[in-house]
Amino acid sequence: MSNAPTLETERLILRPFVPEDAEELHRILNLEGILRYFPGPGNPDMERVERFISRQTEQWREKGYAWWAVETKADRRLLGWNGLQYLPETDETEIGFLIDKAFWGRGLTPEAGRASLRFGFETLGLGEVIALAHPENTASQRVMEKLGLPFVEETVYFDMEVRRFVLSAADYRAAREADSEPGPAASTTA
Ligand SMILES: CC(C)(COP(=O)(O)OP(=O)(O)OC[C@H]1O[C@@H](n2cnc3c(N)ncnc32)[C@H](O)[C@@H]1OP(=O)(O)O)[C@@H](O)C(=O)NCCC(=O)NCCS
Repeated sequence: MSNAPTLETERLILRPFVPEDAEELHRILNLEGILRYFPGPGNPDMERVERFISRQTEQWREKGYAWWAVETKADRRLLGWNGLQYLPETDETEIGFLIDKAFWGRGLTPEAGRASLRFGFETLGLGEVIALAHPENTASQRVMEKLGLPFVEETVYFDMEVRRFVLSAADYRAAREADSEPGPAASTTA
């Protein structure tokens, strides 16, 4: 059993992965082009998907964070993942996300990503969260922008050229405070 908490957003539930997710996740990870910008050996077979799920459970237990399974609140359909991952090679925490192609373009990943960042900064007290994207993965970079993750540099991770984004806890807090300040409309119509 995973010790991951379950989070709710407006349209989504972020919950621990369970072994029963393997079949649906296997289908999603074998959709044409879904892993195009990922390092690694390509579309996984069932055994690799099962190993992926048990690794997430282990990471939650050992590290206190990993990826959540993301599902729709309306019909509890598994869409993919969102969450934080520890990178031992660089001692950093990375936000990662992937969802079923049928659901792209509805702002669901930024919605889940905001919950992941809040958990990282407000619950775990992390000092910073990074994000990495293949330079041609414009969809992913749009998500970084929507999440307020500033672009820092082009570099190499996992033998792959990437664009690296970094959000510090201080910048996260400043952005949250700016968001919660009453705007002109709120202060004049009262
Ligand atoms: C990256 C990804 C998670 C974005 O998720 P999403 O829920 O669609 O995010 P958004 O709805 O905010 O859309 C982000 C951008 O995706 C692009 N996009 C939207 N619909 C799309 C579609 N049908 N086909 C291709 N790109 C699309 C747009 O550029 C959009 O930006 P916009 O809102 O300014 O138009 C999703 O595309 C995905 O799962 N990709 C494969 C996995 C991956 O690359 N993960 C990131 C690894 S770093």
